[in-house]
Amino acid sequence: MDTTKIKTKFQALFGEGGALYVSPGRINLIGEHTDYNGGFVLPGAIDKAMYCAIKPNGTDSVNAYALDLNESSAFGLKEEDKPAEGWAKFIFGVCREMIKKGKSIPGFDIVISGDVPLGAGMSSSAALESAVGFALNDQYGLGFSRQELALIGQATEHNYVGVKCGIMDQFASCLGKEGALIRLDCRSLEYEYVPFSPKAYQLVLINTCVAHNLAVGGEYNKRRESCERVVAEIAKNHPGVKLLRDTNLDELKEVKNKVDETDYTRAEFVIEEIQRLLDTCEALKKDDYETVGKKMYETHEGLSKKYTVSCPELDFLNEQAKQYGVTGSRVMGGGFGGCTINLVREDKKVDFVKKATEAYEKTFNIKPKVYDVVIKDGARKI
Ligand code: GLA
Repeated sequence: MDTTKIKTKFQALFGEGGALYVSPGRINLIGEHTDYNGGFVLPGAIDKAMYCAIKPNGTDSVNAYALDLNESSAFGLKEEDKPAEGWAKFIFGVCREMIKKGKSIPGFDIVISGDVPLGAGMSSSAALESAVGFALNDQYGLGFSRQELALIGQATEHNYVGVKCGIMDQFASCLGKEGALIRLDCRSLEYEYVPFSPKAYQLVLINTCVAHNLAVGGEYNKRRESCERVVAEIAKNHPGVKLLRDTNLDELKEVKNKVDETDYTRAEFVIEEIQRLLDTCEALKKDDYETVGKKMYETHEGLSKKYTVSCPELDFLNEQAKQYGVTGSRVMGGGFGGCTINLVREDKKVDFVKKATEAYEKTFNIKPKVYDVVIKDGARKI
């Protein structure tokens, strides 16, 4: 993204200076809705990001401007000062979570902007939280590690946005590495970088342009609650089970008649998905992308039929992918709209993208957007 506009706006509003920071959105190859269940995920930071220009202002309040919305917001940093604007809540929440950890956050001026498509399942909110967190950490020498910044972003979602998300998005945004996916164990937060540059295949996202908002309707939080209810039931027989990660399909079957059918099916998906990620990692080690792709289709099927977080538009794109010989395809991120992620042979890509997007537009009267995936570094100063 050209950062001239954000610098110019900062100067126009707040005068000289304004240090510039960036933190990216993410893709996730496989492992969906596993993070808040203590399972594994396989995300990577991308070349679409949120940016902020920031400078301490010598007061105890914040003057914020969202360039892409042409909106401003001014607020203090006490708990009761929560701003009304949705986007400003992210900035306020990050500050509050830092203050709760005993840090002092003096006031500042900030302009934010970005090119992560909103509601597309590419984690624009985590990117914003991470950019602001990284910037404040650097400006005020707060000493948080990247992992701690990710946890601060997650706590912001929980406490100031209302989405009880897992750690995947903020972790990828803060710790992403160019050319590598992150195999993250969301229970221990241990992770390793998995180099990802498949020969003869490409990753491409197709955005349904049906926006998802995980906070609206609470559907995301309801999935999490289903998982927690099943864990509570299994733990009656197996006290060591604290998360779905700690259990298996046999133990799940033991409680089949004790839990709601919907909860059961959702938990079954999560346990299967955790295993699917492990199988995918094995396949990646052997450069066996046909198996990786097969697993991606299985994930889509599970997210659509068992976890019910797909929608007709996403299912349509998944069918198109099958029809045009795409190796793997599935809904990416929280679901309910947003993108499919497609692993496609280079020689099939152009044809697939053309035919699938034309058919999509004809069927839904919406022009989908297409993005080639480029895996980049996480949060940084520029
Ligand atoms: C959203 C959440 C993540 C994760 C995904 C689904 O992106 O923010 O924590 O749960 O959905 O895998």
